[in-house]
Amino acid sequence: MKIYFASGNAHKREEMARIFPGHRIVIPKDEGIEFDPEETADSFFGNALIKAESLWDMVRAPVLADDSGICVDALGGAPGVKSARFGSENGVILESEGRNALLLSLMKGKEDRTCRFVCNMVLFLGPGRFWSVQETLEGELINESRGTGGFGYDPIVFVKETGKTVAELSPEDKDRLSHRGKAGKAISALLDRFAPENIRI
Ligand code: IMP
Repeated sequence: MKIYFASGNAHKREEMARIFPGHRIVIPKDEGIEFDPEETADSFFGNALIKAESLWDMVRAPVLADDSGICVDALGGAPGVKSARFGSENGVILESEGRNALLLSLMKGKEDRTCRFVCNMVLFLGPGRFWSVQETLEGELINESRGTGGFGYDPIVFVKETGKTVAELSPEDKDRLSHRGKAGKAISALLDRFAPENIRI
């Protein structure tokens, strides 16, 4: 069963293929589709819906989209929906390492290091018809990078119950605990339980 995933992020696509093992996850690039909608909403849900709806308009088939990021309590929830663009300005793109360094520099002297990854996932089935789930992974920012797995902010987020950073978790553990893993599993269970009528998945 083929489901489009509205993303260009290879790491996320790998995670999605693991989370939806019974389905073939296809990203726009696989079919030569140019896809880069502007994420103009101020919520994860709003941006996930923008991505899902705009890809659905192009492919007219079931689309999964996620919008995710990291919210840091001591920074009032920042970088939040701006996690991917954090520190990038005037056309200068900051890569993961630079973003992590910037985030840790803003945390200097702050005692409260709590943060959470948030993922909103939308399965878009047709005009006016979609399911959405939002999930989190709670963590604490450490002061250094640890681990080589995952991507993005993973090496600086420590998950207490595992004694590891997210970048030190096995892919299976990340899928079990993560914001995207939990949201994806809920959508996957909904799909099993309520296979949409009149929709070829
Ligand atoms: P999006 O592709 O617009 O949803 O941007 C998500 C951004 O949030 C990514 O580029 C990462 O910087 C960050 N992010 C989201 N999920 C994760 C994760 O699981 N690990 C590390 N960083 C993440």
